[in-house]
Order: sequence, then structure tokens, then C-alpha cells
Amino acid sequence: MSASEDNDPLMVIPRHVAIIMDGNGRWAKQRGLPRLAGHSAGTDNLRKIIEECVRLGIKYLTIYAFSTENWRRPPEEVSGLMALLENMIERELRSLHDNGVQIRHLGRCDGVNERLVRRIRHAVESTRDNNRLVLNVAFNYGGRDEMVRAVQRIMCAELEPKEITEQVISEHLYTSGQPDPDLIIRTSGEYRISNFLVWQGAYSEWYFTPALWPDFDEDKLREALVFFSKRERRFGLVSEQVE
Ligand code: IPE
Ligand code: IPE
Ligand code: MG
Repeated sequence: MSASEDNDPLMVIPRHVAIIMDGNGRWAKQRGLPRLAGHSAGTDNLRKIIEECVRLGIKYLTIYAFSTENWRRPPEEVSGLMALLENMIERELRSLHDNGVQIRHLGRCDGVNERLVRRIRHAVESTRDNNRLVLNVAFNYGGRDEMVRAVQRIMCAELEPKEITEQVISEHLYTSGQPDPDLIIRTSGEYRISNFLVWQGAYSEWYFTPALWPDFDEDKLREALVFFSKRERRFGLVSEQVE
């Protein structure tokens, strides 16, 4: 973590921010619009927040775009969300690339239509050498599913039980090699984890805001970072041990 230079000098910029972008449906409902209009507004908002994270010098941003449980939504909402992601990649890839954003996919490709899988792979491949911001897109992602996959892979590696450590498990997750999230933000006034970063979030600071995702703007992000800057992270120690 670092103190940001061109922003508020007292603001500590977390290395890794993760966001549960929730409340698109309610945002649309409040306006008498179909739920997909909320997802579309949420996608537009995402572009602004990514740009702000780049500007602030955040190194890792993880966004929850679609959970393994979201397949159970009405089919027209699911297909609409798939189309939105596809359009977003199509529209934004060039400028993300130009901004030095490295795109990573956290989640399975099973069940995702082939064209979208190809787009995701292309986005990941074509940005792999960028290093200004790592953007983890948790899409068709579930924290428990991620752990099941990790256990399966560890079994395939035929490790001895005593060789299985926390580090080995971390290395078999989608986020292998990355720092754990320092701050997890959830919008829309919900206070739950919803299967997001179940392992990696063990010591994250949580920030909850009633703002619905399409309304979570740069100022609200700043409020979350100010909140984070005031936290004392003890990791099990007592205050006096923490510098
Ligand atoms: C979050 O918004 C986006 C996804 C889960 C894909 P929601 O669609 O969950 O919005 P609400 O919670 O119904 O308002
Ligand atoms: C979590 O939101 C998933 C995403 C934001 C993609 P949900 O709206 O699906 O979570 P629940 O079902 O309310 O817990
Ligand atoms: Mg929701």
C-alpha cells in the first residue's frame, strides 16, 4: 500500500480493491425500467471506476460480474448479461489496453457460449503484458467452486497431505501470485459475501454502502478509500504491536 501522491495526502491507497457491484436491478426498478437497463447503467459506471482506479494507482481491482449462482436468474436476464459483457469487451478492450490494464478472468468457462469465451480469452491474452492495473473479472465465479477446483488440481499434482499448506492452496486459486484484497466494497446495502473471494478475503477490510452500483461514482469510491485509510489492520496482533 502507498500514500497517494497527487490525491489527498492522508489517503492510503490499497494495493488490491475488490467490488461486489450490486443493486443494478433495484436501480432500474426505481426508474420503472427493465432490469437489463440497470445492468447497462452498471456497465457504464464500471468504465468510470476502472479509470479512477488506474488514476489513483490501485494495482489490482477485482470486480464481481456474474456468480455461479446467477445462472438461476430468468433466462432473458442471463442472456442479456452475457451480451452486455460481450459488448463491453468489444467496446472497451482497446482503451483498457491503452491504459495499461491487464485483464484476468476469475471463474469457469463451462456453460458460457463459445463466442464469449473466445472474446474473454482474447482480452486476457492481448493484455497479459500490461502492468498498470490488473483487472480481475470474476465472471461465472464462485468462491466455493474456486476451492473445489483448487482441491482437484492439488489432487492431480499428487502432493502428500503434509505438503498442503495455505500457500499451496493460494497458489491453486484463480488469483495465484496476487496479493489478497485489502478492501472489499459492496454496494446496495447488502451485508453478505455472496460467495465472493471466500479464501482471499480472510483479512480484508469490508466497506458497505447503500449506494446502488450505477450510482457508485468516483466520490463514493473516494469515501470508501478514506474509510479504509482510517482502519487499523491488526491481523490478530494487539494495537501496540502494530506500527
Ligand atoms: C448486480 O446487480 C449485478 C449482478 C448480480 C449480475 P443485481 O442484478 O443483483 O441488482 P439487485 O440486487 O437485483 O438490485
Ligand atoms: C452478487 O450479487 C453477485 C454479483 C454482484 C455479480 P447477487 O445480487 O447475486 O447476490 P445475492 O444473491 O443478493 O446474495
Ligand atoms: Mg443483487
